[in-house]
Amino acid sequence: MMRATAWAPVNVALIKYWGKRKAKLRLPANSNLSVCLEQLGTETRVEFKKGLSEDKVIIDGQAARGRERDRVVKHLDRVRDMVKLEFKAKVVSKNNFPKSVGLSSSASGLAALSLAASKAAGLDLSEKDLSRLARLGSGSACRSIPGGWVEWKAGSSDKDSYAETVFSAKHWDVRILVVLLSFEQKRVSTTDGHAVAGTSVFYQERLRWARRKLREMKRVIEKRDLASFGEVMEDEALNMHAVMLTSRPNLIYWLPETVRVMQVVQDWREKGLESYFTINTGQNVFVFCLPKDEDRLVRRLKQVKGVIEVRRDRVGRGARLLT
Ligand code: PMV
Repeated sequence: MMRATAWAPVNVALIKYWGKRKAKLRLPANSNLSVCLEQLGTETRVEFKKGLSEDKVIIDGQAARGRERDRVVKHLDRVRDMVKLEFKAKVVSKNNFPKSVGLSSSASGLAALSLAASKAAGLDLSEKDLSRLARLGSGSACRSIPGGWVEWKAGSSDKDSYAETVFSAKHWDVRILVVLLSFEQKRVSTTDGHAVAGTSVFYQERLRWARRKLREMKRVIEKRDLASFGEVMEDEALNMHAVMLTSRPNLIYWLPETVRVMQVVQDWREKGLESYFTINTGQNVFVFCLPKDEDRLVRRLKQVKGVIEVRRDRVGRGARLLT
Protein backbone atom coordinates (compact mmCIF):
# COMPACT_ATOMS: atom_id res chain seq x y z
CA MET A 1 0.00 0.00 0.00
CA MET A 2 1.43 3.37 -1.00
CA ARG A 3 0.13 5.24 1.99
CA ALA A 4 1.60 6.80 5.14
CA THR A 5 0.66 9.27 7.86
CA ALA A 6 3.15 11.44 9.70
CA TRP A 7 3.16 14.08 12.38
CA ALA A 8 5.66 16.93 12.66
CA PRO A 9 5.99 19.68 15.25
CA VAL A 10 6.04 23.43 14.90
CA ASN A 11 9.51 24.74 15.69
CA VAL A 12 10.26 28.14 17.18
CA ALA A 13 13.42 29.85 15.95
CA LEU A 14 15.64 31.25 18.69
CA ILE A 15 18.34 32.36 16.26
CA LYS A 16 16.39 33.09 13.10
CA TYR A 17 16.79 32.19 9.48
CA TRP A 18 16.09 35.38 7.57
CA GLY A 19 17.32 35.63 4.01
CA LYS A 20 18.71 33.01 1.69
CA ARG A 21 22.07 32.45 0.07
CA LYS A 22 20.56 30.38 -2.72
CA ALA A 23 16.83 30.87 -3.11
CA LYS A 24 16.00 27.80 -5.13
CA LEU A 25 17.84 25.37 -2.87
CA ARG A 26 16.69 27.29 0.20
CA LEU A 27 20.19 27.60 1.57
CA PRO A 28 20.02 30.04 4.48
CA ALA A 29 22.28 33.08 4.72
CA ASN A 30 23.14 32.11 8.30
CA SER A 31 23.16 28.98 10.45
CA ASN A 32 20.27 29.11 12.91
CA LEU A 33 18.71 27.34 15.86
CA SER A 34 15.23 26.42 17.05
CA VAL A 35 13.26 24.34 19.49
CA CYS A 36 10.53 21.84 18.60
CA LEU A 37 7.17 22.05 20.34
CA GLU A 38 5.42 18.98 21.72
CA GLN A 39 1.77 19.92 21.10
CA LEU A 40 1.52 22.24 18.12
CA GLY A 41 2.01 20.50 14.83
CA THR A 42 0.69 19.07 11.61
CA GLU A 43 -0.61 15.61 10.77
CA THR A 44 -0.44 14.65 7.12
CA ARG A 45 -1.60 11.58 5.24
CA VAL A 46 -0.28 10.87 1.77
CA GLU A 47 -1.54 8.18 -0.56
CA PHE A 48 -0.17 7.63 -4.06
CA LYS A 49 -2.90 6.10 -6.17
CA LYS A 50 -3.11 4.67 -9.62
CA GLY A 51 -5.79 6.31 -11.73
CA LEU A 52 -5.81 9.76 -10.09
CA SER A 53 -5.63 12.42 -12.78
CA GLU A 54 -4.10 15.06 -10.53
CA ASP A 55 -2.86 15.57 -6.97
CA LYS A 56 -5.66 16.27 -4.51
CA VAL A 57 -4.57 18.42 -1.59
CA ILE A 58 -6.83 19.09 1.39
CA ILE A 59 -5.51 21.36 4.14
CA ASP A 60 -7.60 21.88 7.26
CA GLY A 61 -10.68 20.55 5.54
CA GLN A 62 -10.42 22.68 2.40
CA ALA A 63 -9.05 22.03 -1.06
CA ALA A 64 -5.74 23.89 -1.31
CA ARG A 65 -5.41 26.40 -4.13
CA GLY A 66 -2.83 28.63 -5.81
CA ARG A 67 0.59 28.97 -4.24
CA GLU A 68 -0.26 26.71 -1.32
CA ARG A 69 -1.25 23.84 -3.60
CA ASP A 70 1.69 24.40 -5.95
CA ARG A 71 4.10 24.10 -3.06
CA VAL A 72 2.70 20.72 -2.05
CA VAL A 73 2.60 19.42 -5.64
CA LYS A 74 6.21 20.52 -6.22
CA HIS A 75 7.24 18.68 -3.07
CA LEU A 76 5.42 15.52 -4.16
CA ASP A 77 7.29 15.83 -7.48
CA ARG A 78 10.61 15.85 -5.62
CA VAL A 79 9.66 12.58 -3.94
CA ARG A 80 8.27 11.07 -7.14
CA ASP A 81 11.50 11.96 -8.96
CA MET A 82 13.53 10.08 -6.36
CA VAL A 83 11.77 6.80 -7.11
CA LYS A 84 10.53 7.44 -10.66
CA LEU A 85 6.92 7.21 -9.54
CA GLU A 86 4.17 8.40 -11.83
CA PHE A 87 1.10 8.12 -9.60
CA LYS A 88 -0.65 11.21 -8.36
CA ALA A 89 -1.43 11.53 -4.68
CA LYS A 90 -4.16 12.39 -2.27
CA VAL A 91 -2.82 14.53 0.59
CA VAL A 92 -4.86 15.33 3.68
CA SER A 93 -3.20 17.65 6.16
CA LYS A 94 -4.43 19.02 9.47
CA ASN A 95 -2.84 21.69 11.66
CA ASN A 96 -3.89 21.83 15.28
CA PHE A 97 -3.40 25.63 15.24
CA PRO A 98 -4.23 28.49 12.84
CA LYS A 99 -2.00 28.62 9.76
CA SER A 100 -0.19 31.58 8.14
CA VAL A 101 -0.33 33.75 11.25
CA GLY A 102 3.32 33.59 12.27
CA LEU A 103 3.31 30.19 13.96
CA SER A 104 5.38 28.40 11.32
CA SER A 105 2.70 26.19 9.81
CA SER A 106 4.88 25.76 6.72
CA ALA A 107 7.63 24.22 8.84
CA SER A 108 5.49 21.54 10.46
CA GLY A 109 3.47 21.11 7.27
CA LEU A 110 6.38 20.52 4.92
CA ALA A 111 8.18 18.34 7.47
CA ALA A 112 5.13 16.09 7.92
CA LEU A 113 4.64 15.99 4.16
CA SER A 114 8.29 15.00 3.60
CA LEU A 115 8.06 12.09 5.99
CA ALA A 116 4.61 10.87 4.88
CA ALA A 117 5.29 11.22 1.14
CA SER A 118 8.72 9.59 1.23
CA LYS A 119 7.37 6.66 3.26
CA ALA A 120 4.31 6.29 1.04
CA ALA A 121 6.64 6.18 -1.96
CA GLY A 122 8.55 3.32 -0.35
CA LEU A 123 11.61 5.32 0.69
CA ASP A 124 13.30 4.95 4.03
CA LEU A 125 15.28 8.18 4.29
CA SER A 126 17.78 8.89 7.07
CA GLU A 127 17.06 11.81 9.40
CA LYS A 128 19.64 13.86 7.52
CA ASP A 129 18.15 13.17 4.10
CA LEU A 130 14.63 13.83 5.36
CA SER A 131 15.79 17.13 6.78
CA ARG A 132 17.39 18.02 3.42
CA LEU A 133 14.19 17.10 1.61
CA ALA A 134 12.04 19.14 4.01
CA ARG A 135 14.38 22.12 3.53
CA LEU A 136 13.61 22.19 -0.19
CA GLY A 137 9.90 22.57 0.64
CA SER A 138 10.29 25.27 3.29
CA GLY A 139 13.64 26.19 4.82
CA SER A 140 12.61 26.08 8.46
CA ALA A 141 10.85 22.72 7.87
CA CYS A 142 14.26 21.03 8.01
CA ARG A 143 14.31 21.89 11.74
CA SER A 144 11.01 20.05 12.38
CA ILE A 145 12.52 16.67 11.46
CA PRO A 146 14.96 16.14 14.37
CA GLY A 147 13.60 16.78 17.88
CA GLY A 148 14.48 18.98 20.84
CA TRP A 149 16.91 21.88 20.40
CA VAL A 150 17.92 21.88 16.77
CA GLU A 151 20.63 23.59 14.73
CA TRP A 152 20.41 24.09 10.99
CA LYS A 153 23.93 24.40 9.69
CA ALA A 154 23.82 26.72 6.69
CA GLY A 155 26.19 24.54 4.67
CA SER A 156 27.22 25.44 1.17
CA SER A 157 25.25 23.04 -1.01
CA ASP A 158 22.15 20.89 -1.11
CA LYS A 159 24.16 18.08 0.46
CA ASP A 160 25.40 19.75 3.63
CA SER A 161 22.52 22.06 4.54
CA TYR A 162 20.32 20.24 7.06
CA ALA A 163 19.32 20.28 10.72
CA GLU A 164 20.46 18.19 13.68
CA THR A 165 19.58 17.92 17.36
CA VAL A 166 22.10 19.74 19.56
CA PHE A 167 20.33 19.04 22.86
CA SER A 168 17.55 16.52 23.31
CA ALA A 169 14.01 17.49 24.34
CA LYS A 170 14.80 16.29 27.85
CA HIS A 171 17.84 18.54 28.27
CA TRP A 172 15.90 21.51 29.69
CA ASP A 173 12.25 21.78 30.64
CA VAL A 174 11.24 25.27 29.58
CA ARG A 175 7.62 26.06 28.87
CA ILE A 176 6.53 27.82 25.73
CA LEU A 177 3.31 29.82 25.72
CA VAL A 178 1.85 30.53 22.33
CA VAL A 179 0.02 33.83 22.58
CA LEU A 180 -2.58 34.23 19.84
CA LEU A 181 -3.51 37.81 19.09
CA SER A 182 -5.11 37.60 15.70
CA PHE A 183 -6.02 34.94 13.16
CA GLU A 184 -5.62 37.37 10.30
CA GLN A 185 -3.20 36.00 7.71
CA LYS A 186 -0.02 37.97 7.21
CA ARG A 187 0.07 40.37 4.28
CA VAL A 188 3.53 39.47 3.02
CA SER A 189 4.45 35.81 2.89
CA THR A 190 7.65 34.63 4.52
CA THR A 191 8.97 33.55 1.12
CA ASP A 192 8.57 37.09 -0.22
CA GLY A 193 10.06 38.47 2.98
CA HIS A 194 13.26 36.42 2.64
CA ALA A 195 13.70 37.79 -0.87
CA VAL A 196 13.95 41.41 0.32
CA ALA A 197 15.99 40.85 3.51
CA GLY A 198 19.17 41.99 1.75
CA THR A 199 17.69 45.42 0.99
CA SER A 200 17.92 46.48 4.65
CA VAL A 201 20.99 48.60 5.43
CA PHE A 202 21.36 46.52 8.59
CA TYR A 203 21.43 43.14 6.89
CA GLN A 204 25.16 42.48 6.59
CA GLU A 205 25.62 43.55 10.19
CA ARG A 206 22.80 41.18 11.19
CA LEU A 207 24.58 38.24 9.56
CA ARG A 208 27.74 38.94 11.57
CA TRP A 209 25.63 39.29 14.71
CA ALA A 210 23.73 36.04 14.07
CA ARG A 211 26.96 34.06 13.80
CA ARG A 212 28.11 35.36 17.16
CA LYS A 213 24.73 34.95 18.83
CA LEU A 214 24.36 31.37 17.65
CA ARG A 215 27.47 30.37 19.58
CA GLU A 216 26.25 32.26 22.63
CA MET A 217 22.79 30.72 22.39
CA LYS A 218 24.19 27.18 22.41
CA ARG A 219 26.29 28.01 25.47
CA VAL A 220 23.38 29.36 27.49
CA ILE A 221 21.07 26.49 26.55
CA GLU A 222 23.77 24.06 27.62
CA LYS A 223 23.97 25.85 30.99
CA ARG A 224 20.17 26.09 31.26
CA ASP A 225 20.58 29.76 32.08
CA LEU A 226 17.14 31.31 31.53
CA ALA A 227 18.10 34.96 32.02
CA SER A 228 20.94 34.84 29.49
CA PHE A 229 18.89 32.67 27.15
CA GLY A 230 16.00 35.13 27.26
CA GLU A 231 18.24 38.10 26.65
CA VAL A 232 19.79 36.57 23.53
CA MET A 233 16.38 35.36 22.28
CA GLU A 234 14.66 38.75 22.63
CA ASP A 235 17.60 40.68 21.17
CA GLU A 236 17.66 38.32 18.23
CA ALA A 237 13.92 38.59 17.52
CA LEU A 238 14.16 42.39 17.60
CA ASN A 239 17.27 42.30 15.45
CA MET A 240 15.45 40.33 12.76
CA HIS A 241 12.44 42.63 12.96
CA ALA A 242 14.75 45.66 12.64
CA VAL A 243 15.87 44.20 9.31
CA MET A 244 12.26 43.56 8.30
CA LEU A 245 11.17 47.07 9.25
CA THR A 246 13.99 48.62 7.24
CA SER A 247 13.81 46.48 4.12
CA ARG A 248 12.17 47.55 0.84
CA PRO A 249 9.23 47.16 0.98
CA ASN A 250 9.08 47.68 4.75
CA LEU A 251 7.70 44.64 6.50
CA ILE A 252 5.66 45.50 9.56
CA TYR A 253 4.41 42.19 10.93
CA TRP A 254 3.41 43.49 14.36
CA LEU A 255 0.00 44.58 15.56
CA PRO A 256 -0.46 46.98 18.49
CA GLU A 257 -1.24 43.87 20.57
CA THR A 258 2.10 42.34 19.63
CA VAL A 259 3.93 45.35 21.06
CA ARG A 260 1.72 45.27 24.14
CA VAL A 261 2.65 41.65 24.89
CA MET A 262 6.37 42.39 24.49
CA GLN A 263 6.02 45.27 26.92
CA VAL A 264 4.02 43.46 29.59
CA VAL A 265 6.47 40.56 29.50
CA GLN A 266 9.31 43.01 30.17
CA ASP A 267 7.34 44.86 32.88
CA TRP A 268 6.40 41.68 34.74
CA ARG A 269 9.99 40.55 34.53
CA GLU A 270 11.23 43.70 36.20
CA LYS A 271 8.80 42.91 38.99
CA GLY A 272 10.07 39.35 39.40
CA LEU A 273 7.87 37.23 37.12
CA GLU A 274 10.42 35.93 34.65
CA SER A 275 9.60 35.27 31.01
CA TYR A 276 10.95 36.21 27.56
CA PHE A 277 9.45 36.57 24.09
CA THR A 278 10.21 35.83 20.48
CA ILE A 279 8.27 36.52 17.26
CA ASN A 280 8.49 35.21 13.70
CA THR A 281 6.79 36.60 10.61
CA GLY A 282 3.39 37.44 11.95
CA GLN A 283 1.68 39.10 14.83
CA ASN A 284 1.60 36.30 17.40
CA VAL A 285 4.13 35.90 20.19
CA PHE A 286 5.93 32.96 21.83
CA VAL A 287 6.68 33.44 25.54
CA PHE A 288 9.27 31.22 27.27
CA CYS A 289 9.34 30.59 31.04
CA LEU A 290 10.17 28.00 33.69
CA PRO A 291 7.50 25.47 34.75
CA LYS A 292 7.04 27.13 38.16
CA ASP A 293 5.83 30.36 36.56
CA GLU A 294 3.68 28.87 33.83
CA ASP A 295 0.24 29.00 35.50
CA ARG A 296 0.69 32.53 36.74
CA LEU A 297 1.87 33.74 33.34
CA VAL A 298 -0.99 32.08 31.50
CA ARG A 299 -3.50 33.71 33.86
CA ARG A 300 -1.90 37.11 33.38
CA LEU A 301 -1.46 36.85 29.63
CA LYS A 302 -5.12 35.95 29.20
CA GLN A 303 -6.04 39.25 30.82
CA VAL A 304 -3.98 41.36 28.44
CA LYS A 305 -6.17 43.37 26.06
CA GLY A 306 -6.26 41.73 22.63
CA VAL A 307 -5.11 38.26 23.68
CA ILE A 308 -7.47 35.72 22.12
CA GLU A 309 -5.93 32.52 23.39
CA VAL A 310 -2.84 31.18 25.15
CA ARG A 311 -1.66 27.68 24.23
CA ARG A 312 0.68 25.88 26.60
CA ASP A 313 3.53 23.93 25.12
CA ARG A 314 6.92 22.49 25.98
CA VAL A 315 10.06 21.23 24.27
CA GLY A 316 9.12 18.30 22.09
CA ARG A 317 10.25 15.49 19.85
CA GLY A 318 10.72 15.60 16.09
CA ALA A 319 8.70 14.27 13.17
CA ARG A 320 7.33 10.73 13.43
CA LEU A 321 5.25 8.23 11.53
CA LEU A 322 1.78 7.51 12.81
CA THR A 323 1.17 4.39 10.78
O1 PMV B 1 11.10 28.54 6.47
P1 PMV B 1 10.42 29.80 6.16
O2 PMV B 1 10.63 30.24 4.75
O3 PMV B 1 8.96 29.78 6.55
O4 PMV B 1 11.12 30.98 7.03
C1 PMV B 1 11.09 31.09 8.43
C2 PMV B 1 11.38 32.49 8.85
C3 PMV B 1 11.24 32.80 10.34
O5 PMV B 1 10.18 32.07 10.92
C4 PMV B 1 10.94 34.28 10.49
C5 PMV B 1 12.53 32.51 11.08
C6 PMV B 1 12.85 31.07 11.32
O6 PMV B 1 14.04 30.76 11.41
O7 PMV B 1 11.92 30.25 11.49
